[in-house]
Amino acid sequence: MSSYSKSASILANNRRWIPGGVVSVNRATQPEIAFVRGEGSRIWDADGNEYIDYHAAFAPHVLGHNDPHVSAAVIRTIEQGASLFGSGPTEHEGRLAELICRNAPHVDSVQLLNSGSEATYQALRLARAVTGRDHVIVMQGGYNGWHNDVACNLMTPLSALGPRVTDDEYPFLPISAGIPEAHSKLIHPVNFNSLDAVRAVCQRYPVAALITEPVLQNIGIVHPKPGYLQGLRALADEFGFVLVFDEVKTGFRHALGGYAALAGVKPDLAVYGKALANGYPMAAIGGRKELMDYFVHPDGSKRVLLAGTYNAHPVPVAATIATLERLMEDDGAVYRKLEQLGASLQGSIEESLASLGMAGTVARQGSAFCIYFMDHPPVDWHDIAQNHAFDADSAMRLELIRRGVYFFPLATKQASISAAHSEDDIEFTAGALRAALEKAAAVLHPAARA
Ligand SMILES: Cc1ncc(COP(=O)(O)O)c(C=O)c1O
Repeated sequence: MSSYSKSASILANNRRWIPGGVVSVNRATQPEIAFVRGEGSRIWDADGNEYIDYHAAFAPHVLGHNDPHVSAAVIRTIEQGASLFGSGPTEHEGRLAELICRNAPHVDSVQLLNSGSEATYQALRLARAVTGRDHVIVMQGGYNGWHNDVACNLMTPLSALGPRVTDDEYPFLPISAGIPEAHSKLIHPVNFNSLDAVRAVCQRYPVAALITEPVLQNIGIVHPKPGYLQGLRALADEFGFVLVFDEVKTGFRHALGGYAALAGVKPDLAVYGKALANGYPMAAIGGRKELMDYFVHPDGSKRVLLAGTYNAHPVPVAATIATLERLMEDDGAVYRKLEQLGASLQGSIEESLASLGMAGTVARQGSAFCIYFMDHPPVDWHDIAQNHAFDADSAMRLELIRRGVYFFPLATKQASISAAHSEDDIEFTAGALRAALEKAAAVLHPAARA
């Protein structure tokens, strides 16, 4: 049995100085584990327990922890005295911007920020400036950051949300206190995969932007139905709103051009983060030149303010360039490896589910996957909330952690494979998952196990 006594004492000390003892409240978990080291596919906690990591710090580590090429670039940058100057351009930020644009053909230019939330914030501000409109459509079950416009309607209890609505909006249900009432009038959550709902909102309000993850990856993995993203593109053209793909999770993890490239749909704006920098704080907003040029509009009343003391700090810039170099190697070899590992693990999980006689589905996009205890891949949040066995999911995760495989211990959180995972890691994980699925089965069918 793993001991977590040193983790417990770190948390107890932190609680004196930090509300709850952890920064970013969504990092508070059961079991409470303090991690101290990461390398490749592995992480270690303060008590010396070793895990194969699938949490990947909420998905950035596409190459694995402390990728040697990325770490070398970071160390070199510091040694070369590339400090933060906060005045004028740097050669490296230009190189990074060029790499992003060359990899994502729908991106003419980019601006660099520190986090996904900053990037989605700027995307909505830009869309409002360009259109002169205030209303924004978001997705039920989507997550686009912590700011007032988007901190709503994530894993909403159906008791608050009501039944599925496919031709109208849902109520704005904030996931934070302190959001001004005015936002509930401007933000319109709709059902993912329902084009009629978007049309209904557009017919009622002047909509500045629709922001969506192209694959919902904060409630596991929910794919767009065939034609859905193309339908959003057509509605954006018809009603004149700015189509924003939030590729903070999907971008650079699934393909160099993001999910937009895989789907063959061009958003007006895209935002990136996470896998872009393999764990360093970097985000980007990019898109069509006519829109991006509002950041330098000659008419001051139309110019969109984008500022930030730490934007394009040389250390994360170096880490991001190094990450992209790795991702671009050998014509995308990393993505081929990720797909192969993902498919192999999916196959093993499906065999285990079948042999245990469990209703289960592995929803997967390349290296990112989620196991749902339901007989079909989910289509929206209602589908998951109504059909997935959350308690069995939690039991599975606890057993995995006990066996040294770290899935974030919160039901429906996706797992992410990195390029540092080996076939042996996947085989070990498949074995641990088989045992963990037995625990889940005992929750699903307690009588059968008694
Ligand atoms: C799709 C998506 N958008 C935006 C964000 C916010 O990014 P950050 O946590 O870097 O602010 C996240 C974070 O999980 C995300 O998953």
